Amino acid sequence: MELHPGDPGFLKHLWSWVSTRPWFPCRGSGFRIIESWSRGRIMHLVVNACGYTLYLPLMLSQNEPGLPPKYYARIGGAYIYEAGYSPEYYESIALDELFTVEGSVPDVFEVHPVEGVYTNLVALLRSRQGLMVAKTYRIVEPPNPEPLLLDVLWKAGYGAVPRLVAVVRARPLDDVAILIEEHVDGVEGAHVFADLLESYIDGEDTLEESRWLAERLGRSVGELHKALASCGHPEVGPYTVDWGDVEAWRRRLESRITLLGRLGSGEPWLDLLPLVGEAARRAAGMFKIFVGRRKMLLHQDLHLYQTLYSEDRGFVFIDFEGEPGRGAPRLSREPPARDLACMIRSFNYLAVEHLASRLGGYRRLVSLLRRRHAEQVLMDRLAEWEEAVVDAFLKGYVVVVAGLSEEIHGVPGHELAGWLREAVKPWLVERGLYEALYEYTYRPEAVAVPLLGVSTGLRGF
Ligand SMILES: Nc1ncnc2c1ncn2[C@@H]1O[C@H](COP(=O)(O)OP(=O)(O)O)[C@@H](O)[C@H]1O
Ligand SMILES: [Mg+2]
Repeated sequence: MELHPGDPGFLKHLWSWVSTRPWFPCRGSGFRIIESWSRGRIMHLVVNACGYTLYLPLMLSQNEPGLPPKYYARIGGAYIYEAGYSPEYYESIALDELFTVEGSVPDVFEVHPVEGVYTNLVALLRSRQGLMVAKTYRIVEPPNPEPLLLDVLWKAGYGAVPRLVAVVRARPLDDVAILIEEHVDGVEGAHVFADLLESYIDGEDTLEESRWLAERLGRSVGELHKALASCGHPEVGPYTVDWGDVEAWRRRLESRITLLGRLGSGEPWLDLLPLVGEAARRAAGMFKIFVGRRKMLLHQDLHLYQTLYSEDRGFVFIDFEGEPGRGAPRLSREPPARDLACMIRSFNYLAVEHLASRLGGYRRLVSLLRRRHAEQVLMDRLAEWEEAVVDAFLKGYVVVVAGLSEEIHGVPGHELAGWLREAVKPWLVERGLYEALYEYTYRPEAVAVPLLGVSTGLRGF
């Protein structure tokens, strides 16, 4: 049977493919098309599904694409796949009056998917102008801060972010649709630290190299915050925190706890929620220490997978779009301690992921609560590693930032080291709850990882 895009049957088949992709935020949910336009073989859909607005540019082709099978479907007589994986999509930008371009789109002749990415479509572009990376945003939550932050940082002379090549805005989205940037050589920081952790656990390594690298990372985050705080852009800040901010952060904590309670019915991680709830109450009480201190636009989603590391260039930070799914607007200004807490959570993630794999799966994590002394030696060693890297990370950060501590944090330089130790605490919980909800959406089997981190930690058994 031949199906055409105008047929109701076509959309039904298309949706049953789209809504079962690993990046789709609400598996199996219904949808409503709010905008659509076609240019040649590309069909652009803007869709509402379970509270999200999604941008889905799709290629309809008679020829089988040169992609692994999970990337395409056969519907009626045609092959369907996301247009971001085809050079034609990048060619079509200049011809489509619904797009506006800042910078210039390269001449792309080959596209490869970047694997293991959840929210956005990320592709490696081979072009006549060199190797580049394109990101097509599937979730639309205007305004997306990524182009603004990359531009501001680059103009401030900060080199530890990718150079922007083109920002493509789509009128129907009222926001950026595609971002094209320089390809950065390097390995995701998470892999570098995971290898170091592994060799420490196996007794092949001391803590020295982990400490050295964590301190280097701390210095790089310090440079990032210095560049943001001194850029002079009114969207970025810094500004002064008031009680209204504190109330908003408290409400955020409360709504996340409520939501997790609702989603957790029958889930193995439900047992962790009373402890998590207690941590959230303590965190809510701590936010008041920020009143009168500084807040600014941050990276907002700073973790080890958002860094690319090479010996030459050190750590390069990527993915400045904030936390997908937090809800618009993503341009909220927060105390810079929050970025540090996100990174500290990321070290804890590596340790807990390691624990889960040694135990034989995520489900076993929750059962640790009942078998308190199981795996004590391993957990102590993981905790030692985590404490060492967090300590070195904060030390590196303070070395770089202490001279501008008043401007960036609203805290005298000589108090900064001690103050930060406290200031990250409520954000560790707030971020951990975000992570749990993110996992619920994309990797439901892993919800216990952040919940364990924010409730007992590795020392808490
Ligand atoms: N400029 C770049 N150079 C090299 N690799 C990149 C670049 N940007 C992204 N990547 C790779 O793609 C992955 C996903 O990109 P990211 O911007 O973090 O998207 P997402 O918002 O979907 O997480 C990164 O973890 C990294 O491996
Ligand atoms: Mg990312």
